[in-house]
Amino acid sequence: MRYICCALMVIFSTEIIAQKNEPNYDESKIPAYTLPELLTAKDGKTISSSKQWDKTRRNEILMDFQRFVYGKIPEGAVETRTQIIKETDALNGKATLKEVRMTFSRNNHQISMDILLFLPKSKEKAPLFVGLNFYGNHTILDDPNISLASSWIRNNEAFGIIDNKATEASRGVRHSRWPVEKIIDRGYGLATIYYGDIDPDVNDFSDGIHTLFYGSGQMHPAKDQWGSISGWAWGLSRAMDYFETDKAIDNKRIALMGHSRIGKTALWAGAMDERFAIVISNDSGCGGAALSRRKIGETVGKINSSFPHWFCDNFNDYSNNENALPIDQHMLIALMAPRPVYVASAEGDRWADPRGEFLSAYHAGEVYRLFGLDGLPSDKMPEVNQPIMHSVGYHIRTGKHDVTDFDWESYMDFADMHF
Ligand code: GCU
Repeated sequence: MRYICCALMVIFSTEIIAQKNEPNYDESKIPAYTLPELLTAKDGKTISSSKQWDKTRRNEILMDFQRFVYGKIPEGAVETRTQIIKETDALNGKATLKEVRMTFSRNNHQISMDILLFLPKSKEKAPLFVGLNFYGNHTILDDPNISLASSWIRNNEAFGIIDNKATEASRGVRHSRWPVEKIIDRGYGLATIYYGDIDPDVNDFSDGIHTLFYGSGQMHPAKDQWGSISGWAWGLSRAMDYFETDKAIDNKRIALMGHSRIGKTALWAGAMDERFAIVISNDSGCGGAALSRRKIGETVGKINSSFPHWFCDNFNDYSNNENALPIDQHMLIALMAPRPVYVASAEGDRWADPRGEFLSAYHAGEVYRLFGLDGLPSDKMPEVNQPIMHSVGYHIRTGKHDVTDFDWESYMDFADMHF
């Protein structure tokens, strides 16, 4: 009898564990939640003008994200050297291909990041899309003029990445996500940087940008200091420093786009650095556009255990404790106001919670209205493949977690509308 009881208990508890680890995809199992108020300041006062928003509330929210979610970027000057390492024709003479190397030094540490640029010859000063990439600049287009990334890259045999190094076989393997020619044909430039140049995407803080800012004896960021997402965002701002100096770029018209973890990064970079004129989140999910309190698909607990280096250590306090967060992700979207912001989801990307991404974009509209601008018109999700574009834009397309031509065409339409 005792053995049967024990056996039953084992079966029962493994079932509970299994259920616990299984992501929830059922809307009816979302716990009741109340979103923190965008327009109530910490002192309880109602924010009723764009002026009050800019003066107090925006900064309160920004500081909360910094302290509890992504982590503070340490202050301090970095020695920066910028070199144009290549300038040549591309795409049958339609565009100029440029490679710019930025080398950052401090504290006896040094890192370099390479910006790959395509600029349309049709424009004297081109508006620009900028985004980080996952596997190296040379993966976005098969063009032998693009230098192979030299830093550590996650192994991927199908992509020709062997022993964490790019090979000739890696050229153009991610072209489907970067329709370079279409972007050029529509009169936009494109800039991209391999995110691993800034910080390799591994749970290891002995490399990458963080090492330049450690105090003496420090080996790891403090609890409220930057994780990798803040590090990647820092790199995007340094690229913006360069764009401001390049006469071929219209630096008032720079749209920042990112997919997935890099979509989370685009939102955070766009929140911190208001020089990005449009911010676009593609399938950014948990810790990006999706509301954390919905706890559907990927959750804060899950992301903190799978990717402990992305956020600051303080974020661990909110694993399975989302209601204690003073913010939710709609407030991150609202930090873009009054700049246009676009959130995109994919129907098959349940892990990223498309409805939570949509609701964030919808709720951010409250702040856009303070500026006399239109957010999303209703809390009802649009049909698939039917983009809505106001100052806040949104679409859910058919298909999986990915970046497709449909996504890019929508982003270019959105940029045409606002630039
Ligand atoms: C994982 C992770 C997501 C992330 C995605 C990506 O799926 O759980 O949060 O967005 O990777 O970056 O591709």
